[in-house]
Formats: sequence, C-alpha cells, structure tokens
Amino acid sequence: MKVLVVGGGGREHALAWKLKQSPRVAQVFVAPGNGGTALDRDLVNVPISEVRALREWAQAQDIALTVVGPEAPLAAGMVDEFRAHGLRIFGPTRAAAQLESSKAFSKAFMKRHGIPTATYETFSDPAQAHAYVDQVGAPIVVKADGLAAGKGVVVAMTLAEAHEAIDFMLVDNTLGVAHNEGGARVVIESFLPGEEASFIVLCDGKTVTALATSQDHKRLLDADQGPNTGGMGAYSPAPVVTPEVHRRAMEEIILPTVRGMEADGIPYTGFLYAGLMIEPGGTVKTLEFNCRMGDPETQPILMRLQSDLAEVLLAATEQRLDQVTLQWDERVALGVVVAADGYPLSPRKGDVITALPLNSADAVVFHAGTAMKDGAVVTAGGRVLCATALGANVADAHRRAYDLVAGVAFDGMQYRRDIGYRALKK
Ligand code: AMP
Ligand code: GLY
Repeated sequence: MKVLVVGGGGREHALAWKLKQSPRVAQVFVAPGNGGTALDRDLVNVPISEVRALREWAQAQDIALTVVGPEAPLAAGMVDEFRAHGLRIFGPTRAAAQLESSKAFSKAFMKRHGIPTATYETFSDPAQAHAYVDQVGAPIVVKADGLAAGKGVVVAMTLAEAHEAIDFMLVDNTLGVAHNEGGARVVIESFLPGEEASFIVLCDGKTVTALATSQDHKRLLDADQGPNTGGMGAYSPAPVVTPEVHRRAMEEIILPTVRGMEADGIPYTGFLYAGLMIEPGGTVKTLEFNCRMGDPETQPILMRLQSDLAEVLLAATEQRLDQVTLQWDERVALGVVVAADGYPLSPRKGDVITALPLNSADAVVFHAGTAMKDGAVVTAGGRVLCATALGANVADAHRRAYDLVAGVAFDGMQYRRDIGYRALKK
C-alpha cells in the first residue's frame, strides 16, 4: 500500500517514520516534507501543497491512505476533496475542523453542549474589547480568532498587556493570523489556573480511542518564561493525567464533543486534540480543541506506539476502531525542540546544520523546519528539529534526549533545558 502524509513539520516526519515501519506499507510519500524526510531513503517528498493538485496526484499514484498532519489543509477542505473523489483519507472535514480553525465556533459549541471551558466574549471592535478588559481585570486571556500556529494567544498578567494584545491582534494585525470570515476578531476569556496536558484521541465517526497522554511546553524559555510558541518540547505519558483526570476528560469533554458534533450534523472523524487545564481542585477544563495531533506531542507519542499505525488508521477510516486496542511501550518518551535564532517572532532561515547525531530505534532526531540546499541541511523554519528518546523513566528519557541535542549544531540554535520538569518534580 502507498500512503501519503500531508505536511512538513516534525509531526509529519514522525508520522511518516512510524508508517514506514508497517509491513503493509510499501512506500510513504510526504507532501511537501522537509530536509529530514528528503534525507530518509525510505521516504519520498512530493512538492505539492495545493488541495486539488494533491488530490489529482494521489489519484494518479493510487494512494491507498492519506493522513493529514497540520490544520491548514484540513481547514481548506482537503478531506472533503479527497473523499469526494473516492480517496481514503484520515482527518476531519472542513466543517468539523472549525473546532480548531475558529475559536468563536469552538467556544459557542462548548457553551451549547455544556463542555467545561473558560467563560468568554468575542469582539471585532477594539473599543469594546478594551472596555471589556477594563471591566473584568487581569489576569485575562486574549486570543485571535483564526489560525495562528499557536502564537495567537496572549495570557495577559496585567491590564497593559491585555490592551497591547488587543491592538496587536485587532488593529495592527502583525501576527500573520489567517482571519475567518468577517475579518479580525478576538476571543477574550477568563484566566484558568492549573496544569496543562494534551489529550489526543482518534475518532472514526462512531468510536473514540484515546492515544497515550502527553504534556507540551508552550513557553520559549525555561521555567515557562517568555512568549508562547507552537511548543518547545513534550513527553509521554503525562503523570498529571491520573486515571481520574483521564475518565473526566473522556466523559466530560471528548465524548460530549463527538456526540455534540454528530447532533449538530457535523460528524467528527480524525485526530481530536483537547488542550486540558487541570485545575488545582481536580476539575478538568478545555483550553482549546485542535483537529489534528500536536506538534511536538506526536513525536514522543508515536515513539511509544507499538501498534501498526497503518492498520490503526485503516480501521479508523472503515469505522472499525471498536476492534482496535492500541499497544504502548511502557517507557517514557521525551522530545526536545531545537528552534532557530529569532523564533518565535522572526526565525532566521538558511543556517547550515553542521552536526546531526545518528538515530537509533529509541532515539530519533525528527526534522521540522529544515530543507536541503546544495547537499547541506539548512534551517527553514522556526522549530527546526525535535530530539526524541525513550527511557526507563522521565529522568532517563530526559538524559537521552539531551544527549541527542548535544550532537546537534547550527548557528543561533535555542532550546529549553528543562523539558519534562513537572514530571521530574513528581
Ligand atoms: P491555546 O492556543 O488556546 O491553547 O492557548 C495557548 C496557551 O495559552 C495554552 O497552552 C495555555 O498555556 C495558555 N492559555 C490559553 N487559554 C488560557 C486560559 N483561559 N487560562 C490560562 N491559560 C491559557
Ligand atoms: N503543541 C501544541 C499544538 O500542537 O497545538
């Protein structure tokens, strides 16, 4: 079987790495892929990103299964387009992907279906947004309504920061947010205290199967300082997701969401990612939905997955998830993102990666923002690599992942030293 992975980040490199291990899979294509998937002799990059062109290519190539990594092609209707032409694809339709692509949609959905989340208001008028912030006070959270690769959120600890964020998102629009219909909007919501975790499931439209739990590190700097990023490192499992938290996340968030989407006439298929806030009292709230796997959560999660991912995704496209039990490596996997100089605001591209360590079965440097140029691997995006390793416990996985990072070299590389610190403290 030929399979296609859509995207070009670390998540897609990990998906392709895992899929090519399946005895059912003859060839894995990655569109557009990155420097790492180009270097890997088992993978083939396809330089096509446009939805219709890729669908035509997939038909011509007789692709048996397509899996979409990032949100943008999902929000652009790639699943609808492939299905309309009889191609098997795993992911949500454009309508279902609104759970991620529109904060206004997902917040209204959660309110309607009683799914626990922070209270909020939506604004397109800056004056009203400013007045609302003054009325509610800080801390408060300002979110752009649109896709901003995890960077359209400001957790404002002071009123001044909140006002600045409103101007930034509604007036100056310097974030590069892809706005939804009706122009720039912000969602302003109450601040939730607690510890975050990533809760990702597979949905076939009928059955929901949880993947292993994980925890990301959203801030750029150690000890969760600095600006929000797409994620600077992750590990799996996340001990903060106790069996009780797991039960509550499934019963109070995931299942009502999947049932709610069905009741609203928008059945959900694909990966569904709930960003959880686990409050000090044990209440579990939804920070956000993503209609895809997390990046970098995918890298440690897939390193722990022992089941054949191609088989699992085939079952998911045939509404047979009820027959699948996922097998997980008992060990801990931990991934450290190595980012480019200037990330997240203005990452520098084109730095030559002068050293990369050798990969093994349980220690892999997944590529993200890399490209091949004149035979060299160069940086080509904000998050460049994700060094991911399995270990007997969090401390061991941490040590092994940082051993990998020690073998990486390029100008301006930045990474956190404390990935996994919350679990190391426990
Ligand atoms: P989001 O893209 O909505 O997940 O937001 C990005 C990050 O901002 C989250 O991972 C949290 O760290 C933080 N955040 C978002 N919403 C809230 C909230 N209501 N309270 C506290 N922190 C939040
Ligand atoms: N790592 C967070 C995300 O993928 O949204």
